[in-house]
Order: sequence, then structure tokens, then C-alpha cells
Amino acid sequence: MTIKIVKAEEKHVTAIGQLWWEAGLFHQNVDPIFTPCEGSIPDFKENQVRHLMKSEDWLALVALDKGRVVGYSLSEIRGSSPGLKREKYGYIDDMGVTASYRRKGIGEKMLAEIMKWFKSKDIARGELQTTAQNVVANSFWQKQGFTVYRHTLYKNI
Ligand SMILES: CC(C)(COP(=O)(O)OP(=O)(O)OC[C@H]1O[C@@H](n2cnc3c(N)ncnc32)[C@H](O)[C@@H]1OP(=O)(O)O)[C@@H](O)C(=O)NCCC(=O)NCCS
Repeated sequence: MTIKIVKAEEKHVTAIGQLWWEAGLFHQNVDPIFTPCEGSIPDFKENQVRHLMKSEDWLALVALDKGRVVGYSLSEIRGSSPGLKREKYGYIDDMGVTASYRRKGIGEKMLAEIMKWFKSKDIARGELQTTAQNVVANSFWQKQGFTVYRHTLYKNI
């Protein structure tokens, strides 16, 4: 199996929407708060993927197996924070690999391209968020050398 990681193009947008939906159902099983709305794929494609593909500050990647989209990622450069010395940083908004292709190194390959892109933009730090109960994602990011530096808390009322 030869997997190619390339920048997403218009012809990949439909497949990205389907993978986003698959990742949504995966997250729904982790925590129902992430249950995607019925019919939300077109909105995701229009408002996020198509929009960000045009921006210099975003990187949309797809993993292709003989032209078939089996994974995607969306990353961005975030600006400095008002009042803080902190500089611009890289943020990975989304990454998903279709279930039958997981654990074959595709996530790692996409991450390597994302990090290369961050470096090319003079970015020295990459960040992302995961759900505490997402064992798969937390295992993946930890293996890739990411460290927890923040917790998001909630209380039902
Ligand atoms: C997280 C994800 C993008 C990783 O992609 P991938 O191509 O499977 O990753 P790689 O093959 O490069 O890395 C494999 C590692 O990921 C983790 N992983 C992947 N699938 C896993 C599974 N089913 N169970 C447990 N860990 C898993 C493990 O750490 C694994 O290492 P190991 O095989 O040595 O245990 C992919 O599993 C995925 O799409 N998950 C569902 C959506 C999601 O949670 N996205 C991340 C949002 S922050």
C-alpha cells in the first residue's frame, strides 16, 4: 500500500465531508456532546473546507490510496494572543483516518507534513485539543510527542 499525502483540492471535498462525518460518529461514541447534526456535511464543506482551502493560513491535507481519500487533516496558523508575549502558533483542528486504514502510519505521515508546513511558516509550536475519553487520539498524540498543558472543565447544571 502506497499512501500519498497531498494538499486537498476541490475534487477531494466530498470525500473529506464523508470522513468528517465518520470522525463525528466516532466522537459521538466517545462523548454524545459531539453528535453531529443530520445534514451538516454540506455546511462543513462550504463553511470550513472550501473556505479554508483558499487561505494561506490554513493547510488542508488528504491521504490518498490510489486516488481514494482515506484520511484528512485541517491545520491553521493562529495569531499571537492579546496581552501575552506568546507568538503565533500552529493549531491542528482536525485529523481523521477511515477506520480500516488506521494503525498503518497514515496519521503519523500527515502529522510530519503538518509540522513541515508549520516550520516553513516559522512556527515553533503545534497545538491541538482532544477529548479526555478519546483513548485512540490521546494514545496517538502522546506517541507523537505531544504533552498535555491545559484541561477543559465542565459541570452539568
Ligand atoms: C487518531 C488517528 C487520526 C490516528 O491515525 P492513524 O493513521 O491510525 O495513526 P498512526 O497509524 O500513524 O498511529 C497509530 C497509533 O495511533 C493510535 N491508534 C490508532 N488506532 C487505534 C486504535 N484503534 N486503538 C488504539 N490506538 C489507536 C495508537 O497510538 C497507534 O499506535 P500503536 O498502533 O503503536 O498502538 C485515527 O486513529 C483516527 O482517525 N481516529 C478517529 C478520529 C479521531 O479521534 N481523530 C483525532 C481527533 S484529535
